Amino acid sequence: MERIFIFDTTLRDGEQAPGASMTLDQKLAVARQLEILGVDIIEAGFPVSSPYQFETVQAVAAEIRNATIAALARAVRSDIDKAAESIRKACSGRIHTFIATSPIHMEYKLKKTPDEVLAMAVEAVRYARNLCGEVEFSAEDGTRSDIDFLCRITEKVIEAGARIVNIPDTVGYSTPEEYGALIAAIRNRVPNIDKAVLSVHNHNDLGMGVATSLAGIQNGARQIECTVNGIGERAGNAAMEEIVMAMKVRKDLFPFEMKIDTRQIYKTSRLVANTIAYPLPKNKAVVGENTFLHESGIHQDGVLKHKQTYEIMRPEDVGREVNNIVLGRHSGRNAILTRIQELGIALSPEETELVYNRFLKVADKKKEVYDEDLFSIVNDELGRQNSFYTMDYFNIISGNAPLIPTATVELKYNGESYREAAVGDGPVAAVIRAIDRITGLKTRLTEFNLQAVTPNKNALGEAGVSVLIDGKNYSGRGSSTDILEATAKAYLNAVNNYCIHKNRPEAEC
Ligand code: KIV
Ligand code: ZN
Repeated sequence: MERIFIFDTTLRDGEQAPGASMTLDQKLAVARQLEILGVDIIEAGFPVSSPYQFETVQAVAAEIRNATIAALARAVRSDIDKAAESIRKACSGRIHTFIATSPIHMEYKLKKTPDEVLAMAVEAVRYARNLCGEVEFSAEDGTRSDIDFLCRITEKVIEAGARIVNIPDTVGYSTPEEYGALIAAIRNRVPNIDKAVLSVHNHNDLGMGVATSLAGIQNGARQIECTVNGIGERAGNAAMEEIVMAMKVRKDLFPFEMKIDTRQIYKTSRLVANTIAYPLPKNKAVVGENTFLHESGIHQDGVLKHKQTYEIMRPEDVGREVNNIVLGRHSGRNAILTRIQELGIALSPEETELVYNRFLKVADKKKEVYDEDLFSIVNDELGRQNSFYTMDYFNIISGNAPLIPTATVELKYNGESYREAAVGDGPVAAVIRAIDRITGLKTRLTEFNLQAVTPNKNALGEAGVSVLIDGKNYSGRGSSTDILEATAKAYLNAVNNYCIHKNRPEAEC
């Protein structure tokens, strides 16, 4: 059976989504989970774009052993040098170089003729091949490029040593039929195409990212570039979980092998959603909360009689086992730790202690603790490790006029405690202002969301924020049975992420 290669670009294209930037530790955690999931290639970043990007690609390349690590580079030597340097420690590394090939990009953005672009692409691939055994070339805005030119550049970059040629639908403009025909045309017209793997990379501006990617596969492409939960620029990229499950469920149409362990999909999705504080829509395909719920009587009746009447995939196929054991205050330590292990969550002994103690506090307030609560507790506790600021105490007074919402917060920083109080239009504004008074930072809350982790009265509340500090957005998350505490924790988490970013020694580059 032929193989499809899954190229995950959550850490590069995905991170380009507004408010989705991750710290180095967060990126490493996602990379480790992508390795467990079984993706073939992890695009870890765009090293020339900042010392921080360089450092993260380097860290991922040094640690991940079971996936190829790709680094992005424009078709210029300085970018390629940085990319090559960043993946030096990878077991298997790849330089991914790109240049735009559409008339609109060449004329207005690059201000170059097609012949100049062709020469740059060939020179870049040749140069990269001298530094790295595996080179991928992307024709940016490929779907709006002239087909003759696209075929010519594909032939020439393969001649120069590219082993993977990617045809991005950069602006999510193409339809499945049209994109499939484009991939078929390249396969039929480029004489040396058998020397390279054709790759698809589809954005989702018109909601067709997954469909166009799959059409590419049906017409001969063998690598798919995608992101977890479909995060990415504007409307995002094709969603990994949807692509993988579409190919698994419709094996009749996609008779290919993949290295992915689909049972890791849900956990990966949760990890990414929590890390960047992007809540998933309830009806998100494959990983949304409602995916396996049946509301109408007819559907429930059908599912009870035969599951496949209304279920085309099993929850356990994507790692969403139906768990009959509900944990609570009286569950023993062993039952809790076993469930954490069953969920595929790996913790060090110290982390286990933190999570266990937190579980006890949550179980005291909340009668039943579900798997979703456990994920949230783990993310919350791990997110607070290596923190600069920790919250010792908070108190909020709120109500309707004439009362003025007031918050008092005590934070610990470098072993010292600091206490401040502030008022605000509402309790959230008040608590943020009190924290800002202690940190002295100038911040702007650009995104704020709050959701119940499980659908019951005692639910754990999960807050996600994006905070603009020094011109860059930092995300944060926090959970608690008290939504104001969850909010304060999420905000502090974003502040800590900023501190981690600011205090990181500059990479030598
Ligand atoms: O969308 C795009 O064209 C890209 C390339 C850099 C591969 O992300
Ligand atoms: Zn892209």
